[in-house]
Amino acid sequence: MIIQPRVRGFICLTTHPDGTAQNVKNQIDYVQSKGAIENGPKKVLVIGASTGFGLSSRITAAFGSGAATIGVFFEKPAAAGKPGTAGWYNSAAFEKEATAAGLYAKSINGDAFSDEVKKQTIELIKQDLGQVDLVVYSLASPRRTHPKTGVAHGSVLKPIGQPFTDKTVDFHSGVVSDITINPIENDEDIENTVAVMGGEDWQFWIEDLKAAGVLAEGVKTVAYSYIGPELTYPIYRNGTIGRAKDNLEATVPALNELLADLNGVSYVSVNKALVTQSSSAIPVVPLYISLLYKVMKEKGIHEGTVEQMQRLFATQLYSGHAPALDEKGRIRVDDWEMRADVQEEVAALWQQISTENLEEISDIKGYREEFFGLFGFQVDGIDYEADTNEVVGVPSIQ
Ligand code: NAD
Ligand code: NA
Repeated sequence: MIIQPRVRGFICLTTHPDGTAQNVKNQIDYVQSKGAIENGPKKVLVIGASTGFGLSSRITAAFGSGAATIGVFFEKPAAAGKPGTAGWYNSAAFEKEATAAGLYAKSINGDAFSDEVKKQTIELIKQDLGQVDLVVYSLASPRRTHPKTGVAHGSVLKPIGQPFTDKTVDFHSGVVSDITINPIENDEDIENTVAVMGGEDWQFWIEDLKAAGVLAEGVKTVAYSYIGPELTYPIYRNGTIGRAKDNLEATVPALNELLADLNGVSYVSVNKALVTQSSSAIPVVPLYISLLYKVMKEKGIHEGTVEQMQRLFATQLYSGHAPALDEKGRIRVDDWEMRADVQEEVAALWQQISTENLEEISDIKGYREEFFGLFGFQVDGIDYEADTNEVVGVPSIQ
């Protein structure tokens, strides 16, 4: 099968198995090039393991410290004539590489918000690993069916209070225009977004894992958050999604209490803005990211998800000393993004940016490349005119 990208809005409907496999190999190579993470995790559960920060966390654990990993995600395998999702191919490629390297790797494909998938995961841990010593929580989803009430919550990306007007880019056409996003009309939008992207499900996972006795002495758990610059506050940190992130961060003390008798600890790590399937759907943010990339690449401090996660594990979670926390108790691997010199330059470019100078003063090219890269396209070394080997299934994905 010859596969070409087919884009609709913020998503690419097709994916390339060889390109996604190459991406996974590149991430593995990067982690290995940084050397072993001493005293790293050994038995790891990653919830949201198939793309973005979760996939890079899994790769870092496996190839940085030789960890056995179980990955949970929600993806689609290939069907007749139709490629699978990128996360499916990523996971298939990861398992192949991990297994070849002698590392245990199994995956569960299903709804992580459900009690059923939690049970299935616990059974698999009991059967194969006994206990886990790290739980990474890296879900990003537009909806969640609540396991106790059955209510289907949908998250929204809206400001709270006033309408928000600023520049945004259609990164395919390169047109920069003003967008106005109206604020929420009632608090239900906040409640729903918190229900989907807040900390409740993380807590449910940790409660269930603990009750089942599958958390090891000294267990760590980490979830990911974002803050970003003032210019995106109305749509991100001060908007509905920001309330969900507040809620996620506020879950840390409750989890620490829950884990205290195991000498366990929970963290939120604030990560850098990056092109992922989730972030490309947020208005304004892609334009910010293409300016941020420009500035950070020029300064030689640009990172992708794997560089971020390798740095998180090696210098914070498993550095041999306690992680450096901000005034709100969070790990900050967005520290380079938030550097004053970086933010000043981005803010100055933001004032000037237009359709006419987009290619010149932003890294929209890098943005597009990374976007297509998420789906396995525009990856160096892949012959896109050649027939691909169809990856239909991987036995260890249940
Ligand atoms: P992503 O879309 O790349 O990954 C999401 C993962 O969640 C995938 O593995 C997907 O399969 C899984 N998933 C979604 N719904 C699921 C379900 N119902 N059941 C099981 N698995 C499900 O997202 P990402 O950008 O890597 O985001 C991960 C976390 O990092 C989020 O909390 C996000 O807010 C945070 N974060 C993202 C950025 C960014 O710029 N992308 C920056 C900082 C923090
Ligand atoms: Na993820």
